[in-house]
Amino acid sequence: MTNTVLRLAFMTIAAATLLVPSSGAVAQNTQIQRGKYLVGLAGCNDCHTPGYFFGKPDMARFLGGSEVGFEIPGLGVFHGPNLTPHPEAGIGKWSTKEIATAITTGRRPDGRVLAPIMPWHAFANLTDQDVHAIVAFLKSLPPVDNKVPGPFGPNEQPTSFVMKIVPPSAAIKADAGPK
Ligand code: HEC
Repeated sequence: MTNTVLRLAFMTIAAATLLVPSSGAVAQNTQIQRGKYLVGLAGCNDCHTPGYFFGKPDMARFLGGSEVGFEIPGLGVFHGPNLTPHPEAGIGKWSTKEIATAITTGRRPDGRVLAPIMPWHAFANLTDQDVHAIVAFLKSLPPVDNKVPGPFGPNEQPTSFVMKIVPPSAAIKADAGPK
C-alpha cells in the first residue's frame, strides 16, 4: 500500500517536471512572442515577404524575401532580402549582434550600408531589449530557400519587379518633387 502511494506520488512529480518548462525556456518564449509582435507592428512583412505587394503574401515563405525591389533614384534597386535563418539565401550565418546592428544602424557585416528604404533610421530608436526580441523571433523562423536578386546599381538592369517613383507629366512637373 505505502509502496503504491509512494509510486503514485513519484509519478505525479515526474509528470509535473515534464510539463513545467524551465524558466529559461519561458523567458525565451516570451522574448520570441515580443519579437513577433514588434515585427508585425513595424511592417517587416510588407517589404520582406514574397507576394505582399501583389496583395497575396506567401505566408509559407514568411519573411523569405520580396520579388519586388524599390528603385531609389540615383542609388539603384533594392529588394527586401530573406530574413529567415537559411544559411545561404537568408541571414543564417549572421550573429545576433550583426543582425541587431543591421536593423538599427543599417550596416551589414560586409560593411555596406543599407538603402534608406529599409527604415533603419527609425529602427535606430528601438531599445536593446526590443531589437534582441526581434532578432530572437527572426532566428526562430523556419529557413526559406529564396535568394532575392540585386542589389542593382543605378546603371544596372533589374531582373525582377520594381516599385518606382515615376515623374509627373510635363504639365505639372514644375510643382512636383521634393524641394
Ligand atoms: C519599407 C520596406 C521595408 C521595411 C518596412 C523593412 N525593411 Fe528591412 N530591408 C528593406 C530593403 C529594401 C532592404 C535591402 C536594402 C539594401 O540592400 O540596401 C532591407 C534590408 C534588411 C536587412 C539586411 C538583410 C541583408 O541580407 O542585407 C535586415 C536584417 C532587415 N532589413 C530587417 C528588417 C526588419 C527586422 C524589419 C522590421 C522591423 C524591416 N527590415 C522592415 C526594406 C524594408
